[in-house]
Amino acid sequence: MDKKIKKIGVLTSGGDAPGMNAAIRAVVRTALSSQMEVIGIRKGYNGLINGEIKEMSSRDVSNIINLGGTVLHTARSPEMLTIEGQKKAAAIYDILGLDALIVIGGDGSYRGMRELAKFGVNCIGIPATIDLDMNGTEYTIGFDTAVNTGMDALNKLRDTSSSHERCSVVEVMGRNAGYIAIWCAMTGGAEDVMFPEAKDIQDSKKVIQQIITNRSTGKRHNLIVVAEGIGGTQKLADDIQSITGIQTRATILGHLQRGGTPTATDRMHASMMGYYAVKAVLEGRQNQVVCFNRGRYEMLDLEASFSMQKTLDLEYYDIIKTLSI
Ligand code: F6P
Repeated sequence: MDKKIKKIGVLTSGGDAPGMNAAIRAVVRTALSSQMEVIGIRKGYNGLINGEIKEMSSRDVSNIINLGGTVLHTARSPEMLTIEGQKKAAAIYDILGLDALIVIGGDGSYRGMRELAKFGVNCIGIPATIDLDMNGTEYTIGFDTAVNTGMDALNKLRDTSSSHERCSVVEVMGRNAGYIAIWCAMTGGAEDVMFPEAKDIQDSKKVIQQIITNRSTGKRHNLIVVAEGIGGTQKLADDIQSITGIQTRATILGHLQRGGTPTATDRMHASMMGYYAVKAVLEGRQNQVVCFNRGRYEMLDLEASFSMQKTLDLEYYDIIKTLSI
């Protein structure tokens, strides 16, 4: 335990998120500033399992702070779900002589860290997913950029749907979580939003009734946001059109929301979190994750993050409805 830390690995895993590159840059440069060696691991856990690595210099992370995606590439790794894959990954970690592995990713990536920790790998996590749905931290890298992309799309759809007096149904990302949907609906001025956390209290009939009511009070177009996890976006648009007679178009933003130049908010969090992740390694911390809570960055035990539960406050939904009359 008192071995001097000299060498760390860094990888990005799971769905890419704008700001991952800013985090890689911060990790590499903070580590190099502390005389550590940094090994960049390509394609997430797959690259660790297959030994796809590259020693990182300061110049390797030049001109990337402004780029979406991840220069280290990423993957969802089915092999990391197997004991054999986990053992292979841990063995490469040992062969490389790493003192810590910095993982930049979402909850699936954190589950991978948890398994690797059982084989003696010291994992330090940086939360990065456009979905915001990670426990123990109020912010995850990529969320702000994804929401701004969604809001921008809603602005544009507002132009065309108001010109044609149509209804626009917009599907945003978020298979299991409605944070993106809520933020896009609120900031884009949508009238209604459907998202997984409210599944039990929502249905398409209510959405259609709301559209009819809003038209009767003088609204001439409608914007409805649907989270990916709800599905059936085209069918909802078809139903709205056939029941109300209002011309309705469906737009699925899909992976458009994962790309793009990261916003200042994402670059800021990514830079700070990358810095604190390396600082944690220097302090000899083991298996911890960087979090942002109540305006401050803090470290939390990886295991503790699994026992925490993040819940979307349904008041946001009520407020969106209140503001849409
Ligand atoms: O990374 C999060 C996310 O973009 C979710 O919003 C979405 O449900 C999922 O990833 C899509 O994953 P994939 O790119 O593997 O299809």
